[in-house]
Amino acid sequence: MSGHDAIEVISAKRDAIALTDSQIDWVVDAYTRGVVADEQMSALAMAILLNGMDRREISRWTAAMIASGERMDFSTLSRPTADKHSTGGVGDKITLPLAPLVAACGVAVPQLSGRGLGHTGGTLDKLEAIPGWRATLSNEEMLAQLESIGAVICAAGDGLAPADKKLYALRDVTGTVEAIPLIASSIMSKKIAEGTGALVLDVKVGSGAFMKDLERARELAETMVALGKDAGVHTVALLTDMATPLGYTAGNAIEVAESVEVLAGGGPADVVELTVALAREMLAGAGVTDVDPAEVLASGRAMDVWREMIRAQDGDPDAPLPVAKESHVVTAPATGVLTRLDAMSVGLAAWRLGAGRARKEDPVQAGAGVVWHARPGDEVTEGQPLLTLLTDEPERFDRALASLEGGYDVAAGGAAYEPAPLVIDRIG
Ligand code: URA
Repeated sequence: MSGHDAIEVISAKRDAIALTDSQIDWVVDAYTRGVVADEQMSALAMAILLNGMDRREISRWTAAMIASGERMDFSTLSRPTADKHSTGGVGDKITLPLAPLVAACGVAVPQLSGRGLGHTGGTLDKLEAIPGWRATLSNEEMLAQLESIGAVICAAGDGLAPADKKLYALRDVTGTVEAIPLIASSIMSKKIAEGTGALVLDVKVGSGAFMKDLERARELAETMVALGKDAGVHTVALLTDMATPLGYTAGNAIEVAESVEVLAGGGPADVVELTVALAREMLAGAGVTDVDPAEVLASGRAMDVWREMIRAQDGDPDAPLPVAKESHVVTAPATGVLTRLDAMSVGLAAWRLGAGRARKEDPVQAGAGVVWHARPGDEVTEGQPLLTLLTDEPERFDRALASLEGGYDVAAGGAAYEPAPLVIDRIG
C-alpha cells in the first residue's frame, strides 16, 4: 500500500475531489504510524471539514480507522449484544440504568465508555464516584462479566481504533471537531470495533448538545446509521432533546444517586422515558421483542443486575456516595411557571463547580454538580430553592453562578408553557 504521499491526498481534498479507497487506507495508516505528520493531517482534516466526504469515502475512512487497531468479538457469548452511544448531553446518566435494564431483559451490553471533557459528563467519571469501582478491565474480564452478568461498562482500551484516538486529539486543537464525516467515523469506528451486534444512537439536539440544530443532528444521525448498516451492525438513531438537561442532577455522585432511584422504580419521568425508549430499540435491534423493559424496570430485576455489575468491578453498591463539602442555593426570582432551564448553562455550571475537567489529565470532584428543584413546566414560588450548587471548593461558586445568569426563565401570571417532546425523531 504505497505510491501515495500526504501532499497529493491533501491537495485532492482541498480541490474537492473525492479520495480513492487506496488514498484513504494509506493516509489513515500512515498517520497512525507517524509517517504523515500532525500538520499534514490537520490540513487534511480542515479540507474535509470544508469540502466534505461522500458516503463511500466516510465508510472507507471508518473501515481504515477500525483496521488501525483490534476488533472485539462477542460471538462466543450465549446471548445477543446491543450497545448505545449518546453524542453527549447535560445530566445524561441514561447509560447507568440502561445497561443493567437491557441485560435484565436478556441482551448483553458491552459498553465501552469515555471520560467527560468540557460541559458534558463522562459515564466513567460518574461510576468512579462509587467507592472502589474500577473502570479498567482486561478483554478477558470483560467477556467473563458479559457472560455471567450481562452488562459491563468500562474504559475503552488503547487497542481500539488508535487512529481515532490520535485524530480526535488533533481535531480538538485545530478547530476540526465539527466536521460531520469526522464525527460520524470517529464514533462509529469505536462502536464497530467494539463488536456489538446492535447499536442505538442517542443523537442529542439543542443548546447542551454538540449539534445545536435539528438539521445537522439529523445529518449526523443518518450518516452514522448508514455507516453501521454498511458494517453489518443493526443501527438506529433517536434524535432527542438536549435544550433542557435530563432529570434533576448534573454531576457525578448525584447522577449515580438519581440513576439508582430509576432502578428502584422511581426517578424523574424524563430519565425513565428515555431509558425505556432506548432499551426498546436495543432489544429490538438484538431480536428480542417479547420483553417489556418498562415492566422489567418496575420489577426490580434491573436493580439486581446493577448491583452485580458494580460489585464485579470492585465497587460497593451499598456504600454512601461522596457528598460535596459546600453548597449554595439559588432561589426562584418570581412566582410563576419555570418556562426554560438551559442545558448549556447548567452543564457549564456543573463543570465549573468541578464535576468536569478542562484538560483530559485533570481530576474531577465526585460530589460536585448542580441539582435543580424544578423542571420546565413546574410552578415555582418566589424565594423557593431553584438550584443547588455543590462543590468542595467554594471559590468556584462565582464562576458557576455567572454561567447560570440568563439560563432560566420564570413567567409570572400563568404564561402558557409548551412542553417539547423528548424523543424528536427516529432514524433507522
Ligand atoms: N465523540 C467522538 O467519539 N468523536 C467525535 O468526533 C465527537 C464526539
